[in-house]
Amino acid sequence: MPRQLSHLGFSRRALLVAASFVLGAIAFGGGAAHAQEPLKIGIIGTGKIGGALARHWVKAGHEVFVSSRHPEELADLVKELGPKAHAGTPREAAAFGSVVLVSVPYGAMPQVGSDFAKELAGKVIIDTSNPSLSRDGPGAPEWQRKGAGVSTAELLKSTRVVRAYNCIPAASLAGQANRQPARIAIPIGGDDATAIAIAERLVRDSGFDPVLVGSLAKSREFDLGQPLAQGNLSAVELRAKIK
Ligand SMILES: NC(=O)c1ccc[n+]([C@@H]2O[C@H](COP(=O)([O-])OP(=O)(O)OC[C@H]3O[C@@H](n4cnc5c(N)ncnc54)[C@H](OP(=O)(O)O)[C@@H]3O)[C@@H](O)[C@H]2O)c1
Repeated sequence: MPRQLSHLGFSRRALLVAASFVLGAIAFGGGAAHAQEPLKIGIIGTGKIGGALARHWVKAGHEVFVSSRHPEELADLVKELGPKAHAGTPREAAAFGSVVLVSVPYGAMPQVGSDFAKELAGKVIIDTSNPSLSRDGPGAPEWQRKGAGVSTAELLKSTRVVRAYNCIPAASLAGQANRQPARIAIPIGGDDATAIAIAERLVRDSGFDPVLVGSLAKSREFDLGQPLAQGNLSAVELRAKIK
């Protein structure tokens, strides 16, 4: 945070909230009409999480490019989703999106970062992926110690990573969009205000309430096993837990 702002007593979280509010207002009707246009979203990792989000986002009018290392296996999903969906390789998905969802077993993150560096450069990246010792190998303890958000930003060489959807169970994500009487909250964290505003829009469009916890470093507080990683809270309940 710039020195002059911290001297005025503004916290980094307060500044991110204010900036994302302003950018969000522009994105949701206060600004140029083109800000309301559907987004092009590339999806790397079209499993339980990526597949559920592809369905929600197409329903909301966005255009998605789902991907697999075996793209032919996505034929049924693309047929189900209709003309706003395309399928191909992870590289093609990275190239397609102005926003790229990365939702893979965390052990794949170093390879995604090195193989698709060119395609991902400058893109808004939404990361759902959780490092797990049993699944993701010897890198997992260090990724967990640093926090998954900070680790993803390093591995993908990006300042535009937003953590989101990492602590909602896949069944809730698929089946509880627009829950009544209160939507399920999705804690998010990031360092780039424009990327945060876009992620907030996409969380809302998927049927959930975004709650900005703070920076990517602070997003560690909702890494799995951490205090804010409680899948099915409402926004009011989640905000009450943020320190
Ligand atoms: N399941 C949950 O409840 C849940 C909830 C929140 C967050 N998460 C986290 O979100 C991430 C995705 O979870 P998920 O449950 O959706 O997993 P999943 O169903 O196993 O899907 C993961 C997808 O990643 C793709 N993939 C694997 N290695 C890849 C690589 N090297 N390059 C490109 N794509 C690769 C696979 O596609 P192909 O094999 O077809 O290429 C697969 O479809 C994980 O990190 C998980 O911890 C999971």
